[in-house]
Amino acid sequence: MAEPIISLLDPEFTDDPIGAYARLREMAPLVPIGFPGGPPVWLVTRHEDVSSAMSDPRLVVDHQNVPGHQGPSLADQAIAALDLPDEFREYLAANLMLVDGQYHSRLRRLVTPAFTARRMKALRPRIEEISAQLIDALAQKGSGDLIEEYSSPLTGTVICELIGVDEADQPQVRKWMNDYANADADIATSLRSLVGYVKGLIQRRRAEPADDMISVLVQKGDEEGNRLTEAEIVSLVLVVVNNGHHSTTHFIPNAILTLFDNPDQMALLRAKPEALPHAMYELMRVANPVPLAGPRYATEDMEFAGVPVCKGDVLTGSLQSANYDPSVFPEPERCDVGRVLKRKETHVAFGAGPHYCLGAMLAYIEGEIALDHLLIQRDGLQIDGRLSYHEPVAGGARPLSAFPVRL
Ligand code: HEM
Repeated sequence: MAEPIISLLDPEFTDDPIGAYARLREMAPLVPIGFPGGPPVWLVTRHEDVSSAMSDPRLVVDHQNVPGHQGPSLADQAIAALDLPDEFREYLAANLMLVDGQYHSRLRRLVTPAFTARRMKALRPRIEEISAQLIDALAQKGSGDLIEEYSSPLTGTVICELIGVDEADQPQVRKWMNDYANADADIATSLRSLVGYVKGLIQRRRAEPADDMISVLVQKGDEEGNRLTEAEIVSLVLVVVNNGHHSTTHFIPNAILTLFDNPDQMALLRAKPEALPHAMYELMRVANPVPLAGPRYATEDMEFAGVPVCKGDVLTGSLQSANYDPSVFPEPERCDVGRVLKRKETHVAFGAGPHYCLGAMLAYIEGEIALDHLLIQRDGLQIDGRLSYHEPVAGGARPLSAFPVRL
């Protein structure tokens, strides 16, 4: 594969990813890039190609499915990197994000009943209640941090409610969940504790089902009588925590900043609150907190987007670049909450193909409630101090770490 021409951690990217992607899209459909500590990767830049890369069966998420592949499995790598006990091999081997083909289809078939539109919509009243409580607490203080005191507890509690964590256990479980994204935390210990808790919950729900994700997963099988194993359920919980909590935590402040930067769009929504559900689509396009799809490995020598790709090469789709591709979104840098797209012109903030996000509907519902409660039902939310940012993530801007606000 060609030598990388740019690293996704170069300031060119982290200072202005949208501008950098615009230049790369013009340059080529596939661009060789450097990744911190890894081999060179083909960055897929254009909307059509990013969607195809995530749906092309010749590209897999597990490099062990590349014929002739040698070297440690993804599970072995993660266990060594995080110093996890051997039992985690089972959970990593069943990780929905990291498996392909028939095994992935089997898992999706068995977990989808826990994510139906009906189940997600049923969470709405509880999400409204949690959001209102958090805003009341902030309003009483007059000021606080929007991430620490609103979006993180909101999305963390919603994930707990979805899974079926008992209310009394939620503060402890949320602490373990937060440790996932905390560089100073003892991640291995928190993960072990979380897994121990989930195993206990599985046993309790087998004995006495409730109306939650674990109960659906322990009860439902497919037509052939297949059921998820305990390890597969534990693995799904870990994926949901990993994917569902922090992404939505960061989408909410990103969307608020987007509307602060576009006061005409904010005014439009305040004048016509019923337009908010439609606006969420545009806000997810421009305020998406996940810049890159996971890596895909070529299982054969092939041509992709007109470029020769060798067996074993790694490709990654830039979701952010695709979402700003002017061939699909005219004037992509403009946030237009009334934007109407033709069929098939979809943003890819939630991916595409077999690994399309299972929590997309839940993320929309949470985001909509947050924006409704914070910006539409009230008009006094203000930034109250300096925003702080985490270290930049590869291929994207720096995620917010602190968002001081006054209500
Ligand atoms: C704004 C919020 C969110 C964003 C931007 C987001 C984005 C994504 C993306 C891009 C993927 C596909 C990655 C790839 O193919 O490489 C994905 C997969 C996934 N997401 Fe989300 N997500 C969000 C919220 C959630 C929530 C709330 C949940 C669960 C409640 C969730 C659960 C999952 C799961 C389980 C997968 C793996 C699906 C599979 O591999 O079959 N996500 N998400």
